[in-house]
Amino acid sequence: YGTMNIGENGHLYIGGADTAELAAQYGTPLYVYDTSLIRERARGFQNVFKEEGMRYQVAYASKAFSCMAVMQLAEEEGLSLDVVSGGELHTALSAGFPPARIHFHGNNKSEEEIRFALKAEIGCFVVDNEDELYLLEEICRETGVSASVLLRVTPGIEAHTHDYILTGQEDSKFGLDVQNGQATRALQKAIQSEVLHVLGIHCHIGSQIFETAGFTMAIQTLFQLIKEWDSELDYFPKVLNLGGGFGIRYTEEDTPLAPETYVKAMIDEVKVQMKSFSGKTTPEIWIEPGRSLVGDAGTTLYKTGTQKDIPGIRRYVSIDGGMSDNIRPALYQAKYDAVLANRAAEKASQEVSIAGKCCESGDMLIWDIKLPEVRKDDLLAVFCTGAYGYSMASNYNRMMKPAVVFVENGDAQLVIRRETFEDLTAQDLPLRRHSMSR
Ligand code: LLP
Repeated sequence: YGTMNIGENGHLYIGGADTAELAAQYGTPLYVYDTSLIRERARGFQNVFKEEGMRYQVAYASKAFSCMAVMQLAEEEGLSLDVVSGGELHTALSAGFPPARIHFHGNNKSEEEIRFALKAEIGCFVVDNEDELYLLEEICRETGVSASVLLRVTPGIEAHTHDYILTGQEDSKFGLDVQNGQATRALQKAIQSEVLHVLGIHCHIGSQIFETAGFTMAIQTLFQLIKEWDSELDYFPKVLNLGGGFGIRYTEEDTPLAPETYVKAMIDEVKVQMKSFSGKTTPEIWIEPGRSLVGDAGTTLYKTGTQKDIPGIRRYVSIDGGMSDNIRPALYQAKYDAVLANRAAEKASQEVSIAGKCCESGDMLIWDIKLPEVRKDDLLAVFCTGAYGYSMASNYNRMMKPAVVFVENGDAQLVIRRETFEDLTAQDLPLRRHSMSR
């Protein structure tokens, strides 16, 4: 896992920092990101495009992990940014992210969100459905501004992944349907509009994908549509946004390809398809990786607490966090790997199951993992929690969201401070007491 190693003291080091020291300084649960890995991934994606001589944008899908510091890191690395709500947009603008490189997604952008984004002069709206197109065009006309748009289409591809994170199949809440003509209707409307500028097409087929076939099939479907649009409407896209979804290795069961391999396959397929469009300029290719940029850069540190042994059945080891900081095991049966970070060199000697501390039987972080004999106050490091961990954290059971630190070359910095009791009640208002008794 990236720049991890075991120190002479037997501790796990991440990005040159001793995890036991990080835990002592910042407390647990703690999200630790090795930012050199994020940079490496960001550069890896961009290098493929450069080597292939393609015009491109790599947009970080900030839903995977959203805070000002990670957006600033993305900016430093020359990435664009995909936001899906007014809140993510606000975070990006607060981080000083260049608006022209922000793309706004979502299947139900509110009028307020659209106005906010127009005012901020973001780079483009990824229009998800016909209703949104009408609303956007109306607001643009009313306020006298124009907007660049990508039309998100559903190519009808069934990627092999968990049902909840499938997005490209025909029966999906996302995108304009290609088969029944929604996409073409939307294009006709958009190219007739004086206030909308259609940059091109978008599609995203799903998440945690291990094969290139889904992407190349999606590209083939897109080009069938492009052929139709070119001949019937004289429209040819400047941009093809092919979404994200590149898988990562959570445990040994996962068999993703190298991140760059997906991109190379996409570029190859686009080049093949372009052969039947002589005289046309190859569209810019945009991608939107989230998980593959930040997933394996993140590790969560927990402190172990109580244990319950059911002889012959199972030993439960509880930690000081759980589904409130990582809901993925409970929601998707996601699997993770872990080690005892304070005794990382010791051999595994027992099988235990790691339980969260939330009041729910389903709050199990890891079933049946081999670890050295676990004691109270050991430090458990759970790997690959960088994507959809903190960003999906909640205050269930009034748990406080953990702190997040970035480490690089042995240097640690706090980028999200730990929530406090005061934070928990900050938005609460007391019950109004009636002075008259009944
Ligand atoms: N672009 C669009 C339009 C998306 O909907 C998504 C993810 C991405 C890009 C980034 O996908 P990625 O490269 O991260 O796979 N919470 C789930 C994942 C939900 C993905 C939602 N959309 C999980 O924890 O697995």
